[in-house]
Amino acid sequence: MEMIGNTSTSPLSFPTHYILPEDKRPHLSQVTPLVSLPVIDLNDVDLEDGQGPSPLVQKVSKACEEYGFFQIINHGVPQELCDSMLNAVANFFELPDEERARFATNDYTKRVRVTKYYLKDEHQQKIPLWSETLVHPWDVIDNKFIFTHMLPENPPQYREVVAQYSKEIGALMTQLLSLISRALGLQKDHLQKNIGEKPTKNAQANYYPPCPEPELTLGLASHTDLCALTILRQTEGIIALQVLKDDNWVSIDPVPNAFVVMSNGRFKSVHHRTVTNKNLRRVSMAMFYAPNPDTVIGPVEDLVDEEHPPIYRSYHYAEFLQEFRGQEGTRRRVTNLFEL
Ligand code: OGA
Ligand code: NI
Repeated sequence: MEMIGNTSTSPLSFPTHYILPEDKRPHLSQVTPLVSLPVIDLNDVDLEDGQGPSPLVQKVSKACEEYGFFQIINHGVPQELCDSMLNAVANFFELPDEERARFATNDYTKRVRVTKYYLKDEHQQKIPLWSETLVHPWDVIDNKFIFTHMLPENPPQYREVVAQYSKEIGALMTQLLSLISRALGLQKDHLQKNIGEKPTKNAQANYYPPCPEPELTLGLASHTDLCALTILRQTEGIIALQVLKDDNWVSIDPVPNAFVVMSNGRFKSVHHRTVTNKNLRRVSMAMFYAPNPDTVIGPVEDLVDEEHPPIYRSYHYAEFLQEFRGQEGTRRRVTNLFEL
């Protein structure tokens, strides 16, 4: 597999095999800057007064319904830990190519892998995107990170920093799943319980080298994440993440020391993508929380009645994954398959 080396020091001319067909390019002049974006302060009042959901839960509900994503502040995860984690990610991708090549594969069954995503053109030719990703599992049991031995040994701080980071994110996920359950009018442990005993937890570290031609390529093409909840941390000060809102691409203004949270469900699974930056390299870490392949996914029973009949049939998460992966390189439309 071909890799992008560290291009931050040597300006490179744009390789022609990276040029996307016209209709797949980002069309940056048509992207809307985000005017009002949902930012949720986790310190907001979270007391129910008997009249209905707390102000915090109401904000979560509105953000999930209107956008399918929000940014959170006052989350309690130390800024220094997040900075160290993103630095470790950058250092990993800036190691000599051989170090990353050991993990390079397009085989999804490999739990640890370095991959490049691509789009297919009209001749089904694969056109690589301007990014590289490292995927690996993360999980914490009894306050211990359990996948240390699987993580890259270099850079030397990677294992420790990602273990620490995972502990913080694990706790934050529980808090968010409970807020989102309540926002749906369910018991606070509903989603976590129903996603199941053995959730799939993967982390995706993304590396975007500076790109001489941001108009001709994308960092990540339009996609929805295949999990129940994503918590994303990104390099500060670089605008690159975009979400689709009412059929327009809208740029997310990254709030300092915030996480981007994306949820799926009645609550939309937001389409999003990233664009590249001419001068700066950017990194991000997406932490996913998903069901186990054997888990049956279906409409929440408590939310279905005569007025709100189920829109989707029930299916195994494995079936969803298979369909999603079969559509690699295209604009994936997986949910149609499960519509009733
Ligand atoms: C992802 C993703 C966005 C980003 O990893 O699924 O959407 O900002 N990343 O890197
Ligand atoms: Ni994503």
